[in-house]
Amino acid sequence: MSVRMKQKKHSVLVVDDDEAMREMLGSILEEAGIAAVEAASASAALQLFQEREFSAVLSDIRMPGKSGLELLGELHKLRPEIPVLLMTAFGSVDLAVEAMQEGAYHYVTKPFKRKEILLILNRAFEHSTLEEENRKLRRAVDHTSMLGDLIGESAAMRDIFALIRKIANNRSNVLLTGESGTGKEVVARTIHYVGARAEQPFVPINCTALPEGLLESELFGHVRGAFTGAHATKKGLFEHASGGTIFLDEIGDMSLALQSKLLRVLQDQEIRPVGGNQAVQVDVRVITATNRNLEKDMDEGRFRRDLFYRLNVIPIQIPPLRERPEDIRVLSEFFLRKHCGNPQVRLAPAALAKLETARWEGNARELENAIERAVALTDGVEIGAEDFPFLKVQVGVESAPTPLREENILATALTQKLTLHELEDLYISEILKFTHGNKVRAAKILGINRRTLYRRGSGSTQEGVDPDREDSASDSSKSAKLTRVSAAR
Ligand SMILES: Nc1ncnc2c1ncn2[C@@H]1O[C@H](COP(=O)(O)OP(=O)(O)OP(=O)(O)O)[C@@H](O)[C@H]1O
Ligand SMILES: [Mg+2]
Repeated sequence: MSVRMKQKKHSVLVVDDDEAMREMLGSILEEAGIAAVEAASASAALQLFQEREFSAVLSDIRMPGKSGLELLGELHKLRPEIPVLLMTAFGSVDLAVEAMQEGAYHYVTKPFKRKEILLILNRAFEHSTLEEENRKLRRAVDHTSMLGDLIGESAAMRDIFALIRKIANNRSNVLLTGESGTGKEVVARTIHYVGARAEQPFVPINCTALPEGLLESELFGHVRGAFTGAHATKKGLFEHASGGTIFLDEIGDMSLALQSKLLRVLQDQEIRPVGGNQAVQVDVRVITATNRNLEKDMDEGRFRRDLFYRLNVIPIQIPPLRERPEDIRVLSEFFLRKHCGNPQVRLAPAALAKLETARWEGNARELENAIERAVALTDGVEIGAEDFPFLKVQVGVESAPTPLREENILATALTQKLTLHELEDLYISEILKFTHGNKVRAAKILGINRRTLYRRGSGSTQEGVDPDREDSASDSSKSAKLTRVSAAR
């Protein structure tokens, strides 16, 4: 008893058109400390299900009106996590099999024993508690550095996660902008797969990949004989995506003629197959993406402004990777796991430091390629900085407070005839600016330990070799780094 007292009281929705059966089940449940709410038909049950919280549903299969199987389907659409148990008359094995295939949690054949029904119900409660815990756990993980396939720890990515969660369950159109390789397609997929449309199709199409006429029939379908080669009627991608999401990539490359047609589809929520005159209703969320500057395209008459407003209901701009270096560590780790079969292989701190300072003009895609290449080239269990020989290292990012350009560092050093030590101080101060004063990161990039950095970074100009230096080759490696930096521009 005391155990049960601690748990919340479970409530079961009992659905049967047979009143005597409902009453019997009701009393079995109540006796066991489970609340029973009775419904005499599937539609009454559906109503109750939407109004209250239940731990499980126990329904007869054969009922006048909607059957228990139909009810099961509708309940699952609303709350797939709530277990539904179906009852069949003795002998109707086919129905029982069908019930399980449709996703019923369990079935019982009538007549059943009191013990049997309680046992199955208790197992169902445990099962949904577990599911709930798992969901909570996933949500907790999501809140940190991952949502769907999307990885990131920067403030910018966290904002994007929050926005995706907010909009995933509605149907508003989304326009994704960002440089090539920033993850526009991953964002589009994530919006679809964390949202209410996840069970329906996600249909991506690249608007640049096809010539105009073909793209139109691909999107909207065509009737037989619409053009030479149209031997049969073909459904368009909009129809395939119905109930789900269509992802129109590189929307900026769509011709003006097709833009007008797309605008009509969005306004009327129906499509007209090429050569046909019958409109077909579609319910599709439209996500578009571009790496072009649509503002400029609109000013120059290459993109319809009215279409832009329709598409840009929810704008999501993904910043380039170089503006969110906080994401590089998690992304690198993710790509490493994706491309490396051996879970022992890891990135050396120096390698990570190098990755964190590279320019990544190709954004996450370039990072992924670099990691994939390094994985292929190394045979050890540690991937070092030297495994990324072709990386360009950047000094200073746009948002850094007036960073000196590397040419200036060298120019200053050369014109003022700085000592090596002074040049190092100059370099250290530049790196500190680059990391916005973050000494831990700066020390990592410089390849020295933090204590040394604290001493050097605080403006000490003492001559001579620092006894705290981590390795004796650090002088030459630093100057090698400087040369590489200047060669990179
Ligand atoms: N935040 C991220 N999390 C996980 N993977 C990412 C992320 N960003 C990019 N990627 C990966 O990088 C690669 C490029 O991403 P994606 O194709 O989405 O870029 P894109 O913005 O659509 O580029 P393009 O404009 O060239 O089409 C993919 O392999 C993708 O999985
Ligand atoms: Mg893309």
